[in-house]
Amino acid sequence: MERLDKILANAMVGSRKDVVKLIRSGAVTVDGNVTTDPATKVNPDTSDMVANGIPVCYREHYHLMMNKPKGYICATEDLKEQTVLDLLPDDKFPKNKLFPAGRLDKDTEGFVFLTTDGKLAHRVTGPKNHVNKKYFVTVDKPIKAEWIQKFQTGIVIDDGYQCKSAFLEILSENTCHLTIFEGKFHQVKRMFEALGTTVIYLQRVQIGSLLLDEALEPGEYRELTREELELLEIVPEEYKENL
Ligand code: URA
Repeated sequence: MERLDKILANAMVGSRKDVVKLIRSGAVTVDGNVTTDPATKVNPDTSDMVANGIPVCYREHYHLMMNKPKGYICATEDLKEQTVLDLLPDDKFPKNKLFPAGRLDKDTEGFVFLTTDGKLAHRVTGPKNHVNKKYFVTVDKPIKAEWIQKFQTGIVIDDGYQCKSAFLEILSENTCHLTIFEGKFHQVKRMFEALGTTVIYLQRVQIGSLLLDEALEPGEYRELTREELELLEIVPEEYKENL
C-alpha cells in the first residue's frame, strides 16, 4: 500500500504538489470513488485510479537506454556541467528518481543505462557481478596483434592495478572493440595508455547481451522492453568460456 499522491506523481500525472492539488479538488477516483485525501493508502497493483477522467497507468520503475553524446556527464546533477538527465523531458519520466547506472566520461559516447531501480543497477554495474561492457575504440597508433594476449592476461595500469581479462577484437589499423568486465575510473583509456597509445574516440556499444540501438542518434533515448532488461544481465557464452 502506498500514498495516493506518491503513486500519481510516480505515474507522471504531475509533480507531487500538482497531484496533491488535483486530489483535493476531487478530480481523482479510486475504484470509482472520489478520494480527496492525498494520504489515502492504495494498493497500486489492484486498484483502478482515474485522474481528470484519464486512467492512471502505475509504473513502479522506469528503465531507459540512452545514446550519450559528448559533452554530458553521467550524474544526476552538477553545478557546472550538463548531465544525461538534462537530455530527458521533465513531464515523461520521474527525473528525481532516475540515475545513470555506471559512468561514461564526458567525452565518451554511447550506451548509458538509466533506471529508477537501484537493485537492478547494482546487478548490472556492481564490480562483483562482472557484466561485460563492450566499447568501440579509436586509438592514435596502429593496434598490434600481440595486444590481444596482453589484454587477456591483464593489463597493468598506471596505479599498479592489474586489470581483469579483457577481450580485444581488432577491426582496422586504429580501431577495435574492447570488452571489459569491471569499471575503474577511465579504465579503457588507461589500459591503452599502458600500451603507449592514446584513445581518441570511445563509444560504449554493448552491456551484457544488449546492443546499443543503432537507430538512436547521440542524445536520443528510449525505454527498454522487459526482454531487453533481462539481456542487460546476461554475459554472452563466448566471454564466459574464457574468463
Ligand atoms: N573507460 C574509459 O576510459 N572511459 C569511459 O568513459 C568508459 C570506460
